[in-house]
Amino acid sequence: MKTIIEPFRIKSVEPLRQTTREEREQVLRQAGYNLFLVPASEILIDLLTDSGTSAMSTEQWAAMMRGDESYAGSESYFRLKRVVENLTGFRHVIPTHQGRAAERILFTCLCKPGHVVPNNTHFDTTRANIEFTGAEAVDLPLPEAADTQAALPFKGGMDVAALERLIEERGRARIPLIMLTITNNSGGGQPVSMADIEAVSRAARRHGIPFYIDACRFAENAWFIREREPGYGAWSPFDIARKMFSLADGCTFSAKKDAFANIGGLLCTNDDSLARQEKDLLILTEGFPTYGGLAGRDLEAIAVGLQEVLDPDYLRYRIASTTYLGRHIASGGVPIVEPPGGHAIYIDAGRMLPHIPRHEFPGQSLAIELFLHAGIRSVEIGSVMFGSHARNELLRLAIPRRVYTQSHIDYVVEAILEVHARRHELRGYRIVEQPEFLRHFSCRFEPL
Ligand code: F0G
Repeated sequence: MKTIIEPFRIKSVEPLRQTTREEREQVLRQAGYNLFLVPASEILIDLLTDSGTSAMSTEQWAAMMRGDESYAGSESYFRLKRVVENLTGFRHVIPTHQGRAAERILFTCLCKPGHVVPNNTHFDTTRANIEFTGAEAVDLPLPEAADTQAALPFKGGMDVAALERLIEERGRARIPLIMLTITNNSGGGQPVSMADIEAVSRAARRHGIPFYIDACRFAENAWFIREREPGYGAWSPFDIARKMFSLADGCTFSAKKDAFANIGGLLCTNDDSLARQEKDLLILTEGFPTYGGLAGRDLEAIAVGLQEVLDPDYLRYRIASTTYLGRHIASGGVPIVEPPGGHAIYIDAGRMLPHIPRHEFPGQSLAIELFLHAGIRSVEIGSVMFGSHARNELLRLAIPRRVYTQSHIDYVVEAILEVHARRHELRGYRIVEQPEFLRHFSCRFEPL
């Protein structure tokens, strides 16, 4: 059957508030046309991010009641550690309050000025944390990924030839680690094949450079490998994920994505002396190494979520639902980053709105119109976010896990197609007020 159904039913519901276009216009004016400044209570369908926005299961809520809130040696920590060791094989499992805290600790221990850290594509916090140490963050995406319309099965990988050139040019001693972001969020949510992970791992091992995975969406990546990479069709997502982790020396992880948790992160490594340094730093800002800035109940939610996320029924539904959104808007003529990614659909707003030049922010214009038209919140990933470094003018529709039903997705499809039909009427915006850093979070706009 081709109808997509959620492999769960609903036990607890949250009302969504319908607003009128006039109300939304007023809210937007007050927010300076920046959707980050709109209160969540004014949003009907919130596709701002898939991070920390998951619905937890009854098993997660039940486990939270079991949370052991002991300061040191909490039973909840040992339960989480067993689950993570079993999944990743990493010897040291350090909880943190979210992914970027794990990044900050890892890079503080390993990086210094003059160093270079390659990645398929650094997420903004990863890049910022590397640059904060004085090191340089270098993106080495596959050259094919530059074409948003090329529908390749594994567009998220790293250009290994470019990696070899970088190691040759800069020297092994200046590269403290190699990272691979799985799936490639800033690169359209595209997966990385097992063959590509193996190639990066081989290069890292040959040069004696530690290899770390940014594992935020590891389960979605495992599902893509099962579906698309020859030889893995009969593997379980768990076995694929385990093999992915076995190729690395450690990982950073935001439990706000593929662990269905509302908060939390992990830093894992096989390096004993590095783990000691990391735990020393952890105590300074996050907390004792058996809780790392989290409550015992959060550790429980992560432990259960990490097991649930690898359920094939869940992953099949998850990827099918995201693909459905992508396919339906694409077949209505909306240019999206092809093929649809795991956690989000990215609309190529630059292509959809060629009458709005880059400096008038086509992605922002589309985000605003989608909110005005249908109460949907999305996020611009283009010149507002990255200034002159933006490669494309994209709009990301990130899908929270287990939160919205298929009819919500149908509503989003309909809304986007209606906005697309009137795309010639959309206007550009200009920024009238902005902070020095990370302007997209708080800048204010005016319509042109
Ligand atoms: N790495 C990747 C690939 C991410 O997508 C994120 C967060 C992080 C690291 C940082 O994790 O938020 O727990 O500190 N991405 C969110 C997003 C914020 O909307 O894509 P965090």
